[in-house]
Amino acid sequence: MTATILDGKAFAARMRADIGGRVARLREEFGIIPGLAVVLVGEDPASQVYVRNKHKQTVEAGMESFEHRLAETTTEDELLDLIAGLNADPAVNGILVQLPLPAHIDSDRVINAIDPAKDVDGFHISNVGRLATGQKSMVPCTPLGCLMLLRDHLGSLSGAEAVVVGRSNIVGKPMAQLLLGESCTVTIAHSRTREPAEVCRRADILVAAVGRPEMIPGTWIKPGATVIDVGINRIPAPERGEGKHRLVGDVDFDSAARVAGAITPVPGGVGPMTIACLLANTLTATCRANGLPEPEGLTV
Ligand code: GUN
Repeated sequence: MTATILDGKAFAARMRADIGGRVARLREEFGIIPGLAVVLVGEDPASQVYVRNKHKQTVEAGMESFEHRLAETTTEDELLDLIAGLNADPAVNGILVQLPLPAHIDSDRVINAIDPAKDVDGFHISNVGRLATGQKSMVPCTPLGCLMLLRDHLGSLSGAEAVVVGRSNIVGKPMAQLLLGESCTVTIAHSRTREPAEVCRRADILVAAVGRPEMIPGTWIKPGATVIDVGINRIPAPERGEGKHRLVGDVDFDSAARVAGAITPVPGGVGPMTIACLLANTLTATCRANGLPEPEGLTV
């Protein structure tokens, strides 16, 4: 069997074009321009790349982008002051604080200082609780993107065996909640799971979000399963020349693609969906803030 490739790059491009159209109509009909504030503390190179991409795609969608780049030495109180200002600013509909934050800052305290209505990452404890109890919330961008790809490919997920590998607050846990919301039978596997190969082989839907390069081989995959690879790992690629690197997922793509029914590639799978969903959440937050109907098809 050769798996169908789930093209997140193309899907995300269609989503961004759709969002751009809706943003243009908001501006024409109501004079409303959605605004997204992104806060980056320190110099983490991967975070800088993400923030640059977020800024570019926010502007391309016709939204206002507010970037706040703060020194590594910024104190927690200074960051909390900035967030209080953004919470109070009517031009800001969405606030994203790029993680990880420097070690001297309490990330939970910072995230929970964001107005939940502007929490486009869906990390505030009230949005986490709302998602877990099936109430309207802001849904974390990466799991939302994974769910959109799954629904697009499979239609109904009801009754499917789903295994999520990884238990992070950013991906694993909210992904499991979303799959439960779709009436899947959900297992979360992690570093202490006994017999992980056996557990993964049960999955009709396998979501890998551990951050370990190519740790899941094809032998762990049930024939015909749908595999969503969230990992983006940079590994040395001497075959491409000295000092060169390449990106790989948490799944060993070549062996997995011979067994799975469908699989996301890395790069070009889940990655582009994350920013598209961030724009979707920003548009949703803007509509809610203005008492307008929510954009259809962009939320769960
Ligand atoms: N760092 C890695 N992924 C994310 C994300 O989705 N949101 C934020 N704020 N930081 C991240």
